[in-house]
Amino acid sequence: MLNVKLHHLSFLTENQNSMVDFYQNMMGMSKISHPNDDVILQAKNRIIHFVEGAKNTLNYAGYITPDIESLEKLRSRHLKAGLNLFKSPSPIFGDSAYAIKDPDGNRLVFGYSAEKTKEESSMAGRMQHVVVASTNVEPLINFYADQVGFVISDIVKKEDGQITSCFMRSDTEHHSFAVFLGASNKLDHNCYETDSWNDIRDWADHFAEAEIPIFWGPGRHGPGNNLFIMVKDPDGNPVELSAEIEEVEQDRQTGFWIHNERTLNSWGKGLLRVD
Ligand SMILES: [Fe+2]
Repeated sequence: MLNVKLHHLSFLTENQNSMVDFYQNMMGMSKISHPNDDVILQAKNRIIHFVEGAKNTLNYAGYITPDIESLEKLRSRHLKAGLNLFKSPSPIFGDSAYAIKDPDGNRLVFGYSAEKTKEESSMAGRMQHVVVASTNVEPLINFYADQVGFVISDIVKKEDGQITSCFMRSDTEHHSFAVFLGASNKLDHNCYETDSWNDIRDWADHFAEAEIPIFWGPGRHGPGNNLFIMVKDPDGNPVELSAEIEEVEQDRQTGFWIHNERTLNSWGKGLLRVD
């Protein structure tokens, strides 16, 4: 088990002002001072680093180890697995962090920081998972499972056997990363785990006040069993608020699901990225 958690995300955007406004006003985040033109926002348990570039692109995802010793062990493991390690692009982690690049060019950063996000009150939403879409999921899945060390919790397949989603865990939570089959290689969505179903109600009321519609949900996903709603940020990236994500036993076998609406949302309408 990797024993890492999603700690922060970096998105490329052509529309930095609108994106920063949305994440400040709607996601309750505030600016961290930073020396260059990038903007870094944080609230309790969530940090996003915005960088100019083609929108709907994951610049990198930062995963945190429990301590610096675990980071060194992970680095050795990744070197032994034959991964190319790159300099970390994350200003959030220190110099000991390193990056890897998947077959689609997505970067994951592994690092450690003892610094806590500020604890002042904001709506509950711990950055919990990120999903990338790809036109060619199998090389990505093999890369993350065989070399990086994520464990596959659940796989969703079409009747003809084509994989449409793969949910992967890096600790006891059902997934902290996933790959979806899509029409292009891009960021699919980012997700924030709340403390309870009532928090999702509060988030929904908060979005309603700003006339931001929920475009999918409320519902319950099959894989992960989590309750969810989704809204879109100004770049069109889905933002998910979740509760009750499944805790997984270490020896749990990989589950297999059929690609249909009920798998994606047992409460009703599914949002199928591909038919
Ligand atoms: Fe999700």
